[in-house]
Amino acid sequence: MKIRLSIATLVATLALPALADRLPVPGNPVYVEECGACHLAYPPQLLDAHSWLHVMNGLDKHFGTDASLDERRRSAITDFLGRNAGGRKTGVTADAKGQPLLRISDTAYFQRKHREVDAATWKRASIKSPANCAACHVNAATGDYSERSIKIPK
Ligand code: HEC
Ligand code: HEC
Repeated sequence: MKIRLSIATLVATLALPALADRLPVPGNPVYVEECGACHLAYPPQLLDAHSWLHVMNGLDKHFGTDASLDERRRSAITDFLGRNAGGRKTGVTADAKGQPLLRISDTAYFQRKHREVDAATWKRASIKSPANCAACHVNAATGDYSERSIKIPK
């Protein structure tokens, strides 16, 4: 019995990285509150630690807005993102010159997964931007990016 249980655990662990459509945000109320205020609290798994560090070091100039935090919250969220950053899933998230990318939607992983979405679709008024994950992934807030949970709005 004991042996069977641990084999089951091992199989489950090995299977995890293959589940590309499940990206739950590890429980962290401060992250969800602060970084889910204007957009989805993005899955930390989709940028590497270097990219997250750059996002967190530039919050006063955050994609045309000011998302500054007090130092305690900023450093707690930076630690959280670093601990849960991509790596195996996304590889290094840097541009050709080695500069860390700040956008999930600029990463090779994202672009590969969204090959079939054309430029006009991204610009629809109901979508606005690739950053608006939940426009199409209707259960994104629970980390569900599976094909059956996609509804591309008109
Ligand atoms: C005051 C509003 C606001 C807050 C708070 C905020 N953001 Fe953003 N964020 C934005 C805007 C605006 C964009 C650009 C969206 C677009 O391009 O459509 C953005 C984009 C992003 C992107 C790039 C998305 C992509 O792939 O294109 C990341 C990553 C990101 N934010 C992380 C964070 C993190 C981490 C926090 C918490 C520390 C945070 N944001 C808090 C407004 C905010
Ligand atoms: C215009 C609608 C749209 C938007 C916006 C969008 N996606 Fe997607 N996404 C899709 C489609 C379509 C697919 C491909 C589904 C397939 O072929 O299985 C996909 C696939 C994915 C996958 C792969 C799932 C798998 O089964 O391997 C992930 C992960 C994902 N999207 C994350 C995101 C994230 C994170 C954002 C926001 C930063 C986002 N998407 C924004 C439409 C969208």
